[in-house]
Amino acid sequence: MEARQKIVGTRILKQTILAQKTYKIICHEGGSRSGKTWSIFLFFILKALRGKSITVTIVRDKLSWIKSTLLKDFQDITEKFGIEVIPEININRAEQVYYINGSEFAFYGLDYSEKLHGRSQDWFWINETMEVGKKHFDQLEMRTRIGGILDYNPYDDLHWVFDLQKRPDVTVIKSTMLDNVRFLPKQIIDKIKSYEPTEENIKNGTADNYMWEVYGRGEKARLQGAIFTNWDIIDSIPESAKFVGYGMDFGYTNDPTTLIGLYTMDNELYVNQVLYKTGMTNQDIASEFRNMGVGNLDEIYADSSEPKSIEEIRRNGFNIRGVTKGQDSVMYGIDLLKQYKIHITKKSAELELELRRYKYMEDKLGKTINKPIDTFNHGIDALRYVAIMKLGKKPTLQFIKRGALGI
Ligand SMILES: Nc1ncnc2c1ncn2[C@@H]1O[C@H](COP(=O)(O)OP(=O)(O)OP(=O)(O)O)[C@@H](O)[C@H]1O
Ligand SMILES: [Mg+2]
Repeated sequence: MEARQKIVGTRILKQTILAQKTYKIICHEGGSRSGKTWSIFLFFILKALRGKSITVTIVRDKLSWIKSTLLKDFQDITEKFGIEVIPEININRAEQVYYINGSEFAFYGLDYSEKLHGRSQDWFWINETMEVGKKHFDQLEMRTRIGGILDYNPYDDLHWVFDLQKRPDVTVIKSTMLDNVRFLPKQIIDKIKSYEPTEENIKNGTADNYMWEVYGRGEKARLQGAIFTNWDIIDSIPESAKFVGYGMDFGYTNDPTTLIGLYTMDNELYVNQVLYKTGMTNQDIASEFRNMGVGNLDEIYADSSEPKSIEEIRRNGFNIRGVTKGQDSVMYGIDLLKQYKIHITKKSAELELELRRYKYMEDKLGKTINKPIDTFNHGIDALRYVAIMKLGKKPTLQFIKRGALGI
């Protein structure tokens, strides 16, 4: 069967095909996992398969985010529908430019935007537009012959994209996970639904008004209650900063496994993301550690709820030990980290994204409560583990007795 016939699109793909006849810019605004990214890829792939060659410029704020998310989706989609991509997709290539049936799909991180200069295209797509400044949109639009697509979870209601929507040649297609349920595993749906301020979710402590509006219902909301504002971005860890240790969090299918390096200098913290990746077995982790230069004596503090993984990594020759999780330790770790100025290396892109979005929970009325959300925290948890164990005052005996710490 031809690839084109195999593609099963959702409502929003069909709506996109219709909307492009009337509008120049299409905003895909929606909740988490609603099928935005896949539908946009399929929209361009269908165009490419129809034979008329087009050029598409695909951007996101950071090249490393493109590599860890968009290119993975591009690979999954083209594999799933048996679509030939030339050359073979490989995130290590210097130029991320691919061809399907003669049409060009060129991926760029806006952190290397000089590569984009002078480039013109038939179409552009800004993935996760909330992260991107208006000047990039203007630059892209100026050099575009046909149209543009923007997609995002509307997590900041003051964003420029909502002004743009007032233009008559701009339309908005809304979506939520309910448009995409047939493709989603139950755990993902349950996780998103757990934010809804229902009586049961409130009782279980998972309800969050803001998270439900933005990631559940796909409605714009005001970002408030960010936990960490005491950080900035630096090029690299200074030569004279002293290595403190690594923190590590385990994930697998949906969550990444993370390793975060912590350094200090002049009483300020320097942080480098070494690993942030899903689908890692313990053997993969050990070989990645070796590749990244993690030393056999370097202390690694990991989530103790995975003793088997810790033991396996230890047997691979690493100096790793467990740190017990618990609600108390979360707040303790956050308070500890907030006492410092924190410098994050620019290659720690996923950790940066977490720091921007990690926030306190909100009750039904939108009032902030003193408890962080349990998401956007995989790199942050790793950082917390090493901070708790190595920084500042030694934890009090009472704190240890309460079971918040343990080796
Ligand atoms: N047409 C499709 N065919 C098969 N699977 C699909 C299709 N559309 C979406 N999916 C599945 O649903 C998942 C979520 O879709 P997608 O990543 O496009 O959502 P999203 O709206 O971009 O989410 P987010 O807001 O989190 O970026 C995909 O990873 C894929 O597994
Ligand atoms: Mg997406």
